[in-house]
Amino acid sequence: MMDFYRKKMVGEKCKILVSVSLFLLFTSCTYHNEQEYFASTNDTCKTENLSFQTDIQPILQSNCISCHNTGYASGGINLEGYENVKPYAQSGILSKVINHENGVTAMPMNADKLSDCDINKIDAWIDQGLKNN
Ligand code: HEC
Repeated sequence: MMDFYRKKMVGEKCKILVSVSLFLLFTSCTYHNEQEYFASTNDTCKTENLSFQTDIQPILQSNCISCHNTGYASGGINLEGYENVKPYAQSGILSKVINHENGVTAMPMNADKLSDCDINKIDAWIDQGLKNN
């Protein structure tokens, strides 16, 4: 009889321990996600008054130009310089490929999706009227 109660007590202790561990695990994860969330939306991402030269071109330069330049235009698409980028921004396909929308080939090809901040910048620049500045 004593033995039965002892086993039951051990079982209860285990349950409490597991519950506490799970609680800590979930609360610590939430905390990290919240920090990342605020970092990506508020602190670092500038989406006001965007400039093609200083904000947009560098994103294309690091992620797209290697496959879409004057000498090597994959799919016939050259993204070097404002005049070449403009028609794809206007037609909507630029935004579609970076947002991985259906019906287009997701870009950059064979690489991770652009960061939320880079995508927001390109979309904001399009919304702001494709300024050439
Ligand atoms: C590793 C090479 C590579 C990189 C990097 C790359 N592309 Fe492409 N892209 C291609 C190829 C190849 C095609 C044509 C094949 C296709 O359309 O399926 C293409 C097609 C496209 C198209 C037409 C898609 C369609 O469905 O018609 C657009 C727009 C485009 N790329 C934009 C971009 C942008 C913007 C970036 C950077 C964010 C980028 N690409 C990065 C290789 C690349």
